[in-house]
Amino acid sequence: MKCAVLTGGGDCPGMNAFVRAVVRSTLNLSPESSVWGVLDGWRGLVYNEYRPLNKRDVSGIAALGGTILGTMRFPELATSVELQERAARNLEEQGFDYLFVIGGNGSVKAAWALEQILRREGWRTRILVAPGSIDNDVCNNYGTSIGFYSALERSLEMLSWIRDTASSHRRVYLIRSMGRDSAYLAFYAGIIGGAEYAIRPHEEVDFERLAELAAQRDRDTIIVVAEAYPKSLREIQQILEGIFQRRGIDREIRTVDMSYFQRGGRASVTDILRASWLGYRMVCDALKGAPSGFYTAYYIGHEQEPLPLELAADDARTSHLDIPASVIRMAIALR
Ligand code: F6P
Repeated sequence: MKCAVLTGGGDCPGMNAFVRAVVRSTLNLSPESSVWGVLDGWRGLVYNEYRPLNKRDVSGIAALGGTILGTMRFPELATSVELQERAARNLEEQGFDYLFVIGGNGSVKAAWALEQILRREGWRTRILVAPGSIDNDVCNNYGTSIGFYSALERSLEMLSWIRDTASSHRRVYLIRSMGRDSAYLAFYAGIIGGAEYAIRPHEEVDFERLAELAAQRDRDTIIVVAEAYPKSLREIQQILEGIFQRRGIDREIRTVDMSYFQRGGRASVTDILRASWLGYRMVCDALKGAPSGFYTAYYIGHEQEPLPLELAADDARTSHLDIPASVIRMAIALR
């Protein structure tokens, strides 16, 4: 088997564990095979940039954040049929039997776009995709994306540091979380960090109620704000300060953005294990001639049926724009 491995979209912890698993499993289970790393994500596929990977190239990388293959944003691919056709043709001309991908929402859509061209042309390459994104914006009805738990660990640490100052100074902290249009990272960070409130992307926020929450707190109040919530931290701060003033609530408000700090650093054990399992499973399936598909990340050892790429690329099935009502009820019960 000749195969390629690609890390797409935003980097996340766990991508390297996936690359390692694909390389080691392929070369151990099928020693006559070769594995090529696509450089800088989808852009590298369009411009035919690869490097051969052997078992030693992936030593000691399982826990490393980022991606050793690189990944650059390449939004043109989503809209340019010409670029999609070029990428698909490159896969055929390079003679790749399989392309193993780890990436987020955009990567699943890119994989589906290429898959349609490959099937239309009768070309050989099959594409197997693993979910990798701190946003958990990929088919989260069926599991959580690799990188999500690592980013939550980072967030938990940051929230606990801020809690120290918030509590010492009796302050309210408005803390922005990454997550693009997904509600998950902010909301789950709020749950694990014991935030008093987490503002979801499309929420109609009752600011009077938020002010009331802060007033009832003896000292610290932590409010996590999802990236896609349309008001800036400064705007939220001004609204709350206005209410505090009118209602005589004596609290200072500060703002912090967790931003790229959430995305970097070591992978969590859960992400290393799940990425390793998916890489291994995909290789086993590829050696049996599996069709293209999307592999959800539950837990190591879980043998689920891969989802057709067409379904995985359908946003209506991912429901990442809001949190299930049962999880919201749990968060309120824990407050
Ligand atoms: O997809 C991961 C993510 O970190 C999002 O949470 C965020 O919106 C985006 O990437 C930032 O992208 P960039 O690294 O291109 O600024």
